[in-house]
Amino acid sequence: MHEDGRKRTTNEGLLTWVREIEALCKPDKVHWCDGSQDEYDHLCADMVRSGTFIRLNPDKRPNSFLARSHPSDVARVEERTFICSKRKEDAGPTNNWMDPDEMKTALRRQYDGCMRGRTMFVIPFSMGPIGSPVAHAGVQITDSPYVVANMRIMTRMGKAALDALGNRSFVKCLHSIGAPLASGQADVPWPCEPDIGRKYICHFPDTAEVWSYGSGYGGNALLGKKCLALRIGTVLARNEGWRAEHMLILGVQSPDGAKTYIAGAFPSACGKTNLAMILPPKGYEGWKTTTVGDDIAWIHPAKDGTLRAVNPEYGFFGVAPGTSYDSNPMAMDTLKANCIYTNVALTDDGDVWWEGMGPAPAHAIDWQGKDWTPDAGRPAAHPNSRFTAPASQCPTIDPAWEDPEGVPVSAFLFGGRLSKTFPLVYESFDWKHGVFMAATMGSEATAAAIGQAAIRRDPFAMLPFAGYHMADYWKNWLEMEGKGYKLPRIFRVNWFRKDANGKFIWPGYGQNMRVVQWVVERVRGKAKAEKSPFGLMPRYQDLNWKGLDFAKDKYASVTDVSREGALAEAEELKGYFAKFGDRLPPAIEAERKALEERAKVAPEVWRLPE
Ligand code: GTP
Ligand code: SPV
Ligand code: MN
Repeated sequence: MHEDGRKRTTNEGLLTWVREIEALCKPDKVHWCDGSQDEYDHLCADMVRSGTFIRLNPDKRPNSFLARSHPSDVARVEERTFICSKRKEDAGPTNNWMDPDEMKTALRRQYDGCMRGRTMFVIPFSMGPIGSPVAHAGVQITDSPYVVANMRIMTRMGKAALDALGNRSFVKCLHSIGAPLASGQADVPWPCEPDIGRKYICHFPDTAEVWSYGSGYGGNALLGKKCLALRIGTVLARNEGWRAEHMLILGVQSPDGAKTYIAGAFPSACGKTNLAMILPPKGYEGWKTTTVGDDIAWIHPAKDGTLRAVNPEYGFFGVAPGTSYDSNPMAMDTLKANCIYTNVALTDDGDVWWEGMGPAPAHAIDWQGKDWTPDAGRPAAHPNSRFTAPASQCPTIDPAWEDPEGVPVSAFLFGGRLSKTFPLVYESFDWKHGVFMAATMGSEATAAAIGQAAIRRDPFAMLPFAGYHMADYWKNWLEMEGKGYKLPRIFRVNWFRKDANGKFIWPGYGQNMRVVQWVVERVRGKAKAEKSPFGLMPRYQDLNWKGLDFAKDKYASVTDVSREGALAEAEELKGYFAKFGDRLPPAIEAERKALEERAKVAPEVWRLPE
């Protein structure tokens, strides 16, 4: 194996690390990934033989596969995610923490021999276009061929990434599913460590390392994504003066040809992929939208002060349920070939199906491998089932999506799932107010946050992803003001207000373009806004309704502000802020007070003027 590594790289740091991990984990074999199609095809064929992959019908989904996870391994495990900074206070009150040396000592015992009977893969990868000044190199070691196949879609991985790395340092990403095989022991389709108490997703920000153990699913296992690009990324960004954010990046071309880029942070499973791939609806002739990224944005200030965003990923790891030709046609087109599906249903003709895709098949095999019929009383696809798809296959992919310098961002959108109180859209009065709006964002529970309060605060959609103290992260956002940057405008959006019957009032999806247009026109100085207790809002006539029948009274029901609701919010924030003690930036508390004052003098129900 050492010969093999030496043939590929002269990076002594890498060769030494691989040797150390091999000695610790004791795999049967070591495989250095070159990232070629041939390698991918062989791995997939091996996984079909071992039962990890099911090849889908090549006439319907060419070169595509289905995987079913162990029922205990279906989402990120936030309660097992740790930020092991040297000092506890650097992780802050929103992260689990353990001393790095203690954590490593404890984990070494679990890693000892954990790859027995398996192949250890070495995956050199780049987050960001290879050769871009903003790209960061990682190397993931894993004993999961499923992870290798997914990493090939989600990152730029293999020989090109290794060559670009040269002899420089990289983020060390160690991953094991934690399921060694005794000699002669038969494997299972989805090996993992089923004991939640032995799963660990650990980050060592001071040494730029990730150690993940026990899970093969998503962000737990594809370490370039949440672990490197966000948790380690936020720390690199803080140190180097840029930002790593949980944001989609959308391009909007107005009929006059001007292009505006918007970055949007919505918590997990709250609609980033949908908005990233939005198509102009009926009534929007002459408008064009383009996709740069659907989950992560790395944002650097350029010399001229513009903030430029790069999508560090190479693919989409998107929520399958709810994805259809109605809700997200560009995602559906992206999924036609060369994809991996995890925990969706298998139809009798070898295709995939999930809730919300369209009419249910009369019979299918559900995500747990059981027979399923529409009257089964349980979903066929797991609610957090996902597709892994190459970004290049998205028909709306932006021509500049691989631009090493990124695209200029003019607006930030923040939005969670909130069934009441919060209006469809409002703009901040100024930068500080905008940071407050993002810091206090909340959302109702999603798959990765089961068991937590019905509404949880998810500041900047970064609650599970900030690699350092959340209050310092807010401070860094505040400090972007006064640096000569061309600061984007900040907006809150909420597609999720419900009526008395519990139904969404706003049609959402493609119709969100109405809000997007207003945002673009605010940025360009072309649209009006009214001052509400929460922020600046469009009157009915300030939005473009061409092609959509949405009555004025319905609009009122998604834009009204109740004094009681606004006051309750200001009150609830007191308790939330208390968590951060004296690290809370005073400007954030001042904004809370200002909201309270505005609410106090507001009418019982504040309505937009005619
Ligand atoms: P992660 O990949 O987990 O970070 O999440 P994401 O933000 O990319 O989530 P995604 O776009 O896959 O969100 C999917 C969920 O949001 C589905 O349940 C959709 O039905 C719902 N959704 C997206 N846009 C809208 C909308 O405009 N209105 C409503 N009501 N639901 C929406
Ligand atoms: C999220 O949970 O925000 C995701 C999915 O994007 S995962 O990659 O599993 O983190
Ligand atoms: Mn995400």
